[in-house]
Amino acid sequence: MARPATAAISPSAGQAPVRTAIEIDNVAVTFGGSAKAVRAIDNVSLSIREGEFVSLIGHSGCGKSTLLRTIADIIQPSEGMVRIFDGAPSAARASRTFSMVFQQSVLMPWAKVIDNVRLPLEVGGADPRGGNFMDPREALKLVELEGFEDALPSELSGGMRQRVSIARALVTRPKVLLMDEPFGALDELVRDTLNVELLRIWKQSGMTIVFVTHSLQEAVFLSQRVVVMSRRPSRIGAILEIELPDERDLALKDAPELGIHVAKLRDMLGAG
Ligand SMILES: Nc1ncnc2c1ncn2[C@@H]1O[C@H](COP(=O)(O)OP(=O)(O)OP(=O)(O)O)[C@@H](O)[C@H]1O
Ligand SMILES: [Mg+2]
Repeated sequence: MARPATAAISPSAGQAPVRTAIEIDNVAVTFGGSAKAVRAIDNVSLSIREGEFVSLIGHSGCGKSTLLRTIADIIQPSEGMVRIFDGAPSAARASRTFSMVFQQSVLMPWAKVIDNVRLPLEVGGADPRGGNFMDPREALKLVELEGFEDALPSELSGGMRQRVSIARALVTRPKVLLMDEPFGALDELVRDTLNVELLRIWKQSGMTIVFVTHSLQEAVFLSQRVVVMSRRPSRIGAILEIELPDERDLALKDAPELGIHVAKLRDMLGAG
């Protein structure tokens, strides 16, 4: 599946123009008061097009989660502006345009899997898009957890719990999925499986995904573009276009062409 390489979009005849999903315009975030102020990110501008898979990488503490939380309306920028499909993040949050997945699956331990997945449909009130939400069972099917509807989180493995978190994020049919090291706590084999599942879901849904990871290999395997953030106060140090076909299977993880991209990212991180 060929995708345009940039957000400056001139569609060819008959094709709908690709929209910008997320616009980050000169964003800075400073935490705390004047004496103890920490400038986490500075002067970050980035445009992510609809349907794109973008990863953010950078040294620990450089501001990746801060940037993701700013997109998600959890943190307000000290300077600059974020737009999601041309609206404020608060409006995107109200219309459930995006969902977020964290490193640790935050599940209610006393509730069955199906009720954990259903939660966003209950806490957020009526469907602002008029019945466009997904059946929680369908969401569980997407992450291959059919048959576990009535299990408790404590009866699942770490990888299965993280799948439940993903199903819960998908149940509102978000246009944008923000993922903060979602597979960071899992072993490599489980991570591999979930990487492949995530790519399948991404293709089926047409979602825009912003993915934070410490694994350069994972970033290259999943993404169309990898954004390298510099040390704090973090800016965008470099962006690597991943020149690999969109059809990706696990064999690619060991392929030399993936290794070449990983080496480039390692150099970029060193230069940051
Ligand atoms: N709520 C907060 N209050 C004060 N400082 C914060 C807050 N959140 C983050 N910071 C600071 O902002 C900087 C960036 O933190 P952030 O969590 O965004 O880094 P990160 O790149 O996600 O790191 P990691 O890879 O370890 O998850 C750090 O110096 C951190 O201490
Ligand atoms: Mg983080």
